[in-house]
Amino acid sequence: MSPVFASTQQNLAIAFVVALVLGWGLFLLISVKKSGEAVGDESVTAPNRRPYFDDESLEGPRLERAQKAALACLIVVVFGLPMYWLNEPGRQENAITGFGKRAASRGYVLFQPADSAVPEGNIGHFGCGGCHGVDGEGGIANYTLTDADGKARTVKWKAPALNTVLLRYDEAEVNTVITYGRPNTPMPPWGVAGGGPMNEQQVTDLVAYLKSIQLKPAEARQAAVGADGASLFDQFCSRCHTKGWSYDESEVAGGGAFGPNLTNGATLRQFPNVAKHLELVSLGDDFQKPYGERGVGTGRMPGFGQMLSEAQIRAIVEYERSL
Ligand code: HEC
Ligand code: HEC
Repeated sequence: MSPVFASTQQNLAIAFVVALVLGWGLFLLISVKKSGEAVGDESVTAPNRRPYFDDESLEGPRLERAQKAALACLIVVVFGLPMYWLNEPGRQENAITGFGKRAASRGYVLFQPADSAVPEGNIGHFGCGGCHGVDGEGGIANYTLTDADGKARTVKWKAPALNTVLLRYDEAEVNTVITYGRPNTPMPPWGVAGGGPMNEQQVTDLVAYLKSIQLKPAEARQAAVGADGASLFDQFCSRCHTKGWSYDESEVAGGGAFGPNLTNGATLRQFPNVAKHLELVSLGDDFQKPYGERGVGTGRMPGFGQMLSEAQIRAIVEYERSL
């Protein structure tokens, strides 16, 4: 970055000011040169003393010239305005796209692992990629657990893939996770509101970046292989519903952790109607919106309709209802 002229706007402004100063100098020079007249000459040379056009030329060629100029201006307006009108929606759309792209590129820098180089002109990165994988493909984080007897030990906690996170959650929900983190896991709060270091713009930029790296639903579905309810549950649900799964010490499958206990017929009681059960697993829940019989959503249960096929969701739901 050049220290004197930082941006195109500044360069243009400097060029404009230079042209203005030069023009002013030139005007002064010409004025001085012209004023070779003697004292008293202004009684003839002053503009208001010079004879103007006579009536003939005022109402003739002079008037016509003015009319032609007006017609030319009118043509500019008649064609220019509709052209502008036609162009405007596209311009607005491009502005929004450009806005999103710039946000995503700022988010990209924030996302990079802590030990990667910082591009010039950026404040740095927050190291999401160190845990979630450089491309958000998922990874591992060290975490210190305190056992019931008070002893601390380090475990390897699986950090979920983020290149599908917006298939499971909407943008506001992802924003909330980033802002407040996931307490009792290695995921720290990042937003100021959660006690973290990032302002709202930075969190929004990260969401814009995540949006730019999302797999297409078809690609995500291809990655989700299998038709067996139990193994699909293990791959997609256990990290929240089975205590210990994230660090390879799974306790009772579906016995509850971050998400509620789903065993002993809990899901049959919450969802006497299987259609509502399928709906929750497909769409997830929303903050303060009802689900099942007595469920009230918090927005923390993801929806899997874009990552899993209908048959796979059906298999998982059947498995859950048997727990
Ligand atoms: C120290 C490791 C670590 C860092 C750094 C980290 N995360 Fe996480 N993150 C995790 C773990 C582990 C989880 C899953 C916690 C759990 O098991 O519920 C997680 C969960 C998430 C989730 C929820 C995903 C889901 O499907 O449940 C999002 C979104 C997320 N992180 C985004 C970020 C962003 C953005 C950053 C960078 C600002 C970041 N994380 C930095 C470890 C980390
Ligand atoms: C990121 C964590 C997370 C994942 C992954 C997850 N859930 Fe959940 N789930 C929750 C939370 C949290 C709730 C409680 C509702 C809430 O707070 O929003 C919940 C609620 C539920 C409920 C309602 C239980 C009740 O009795 O109220 C069912 C059923 C359920 N999840 C099934 C699943 C299935 C099936 C999967 C995998 C395909 C899955 N969940 C994956 C976090 C998760």
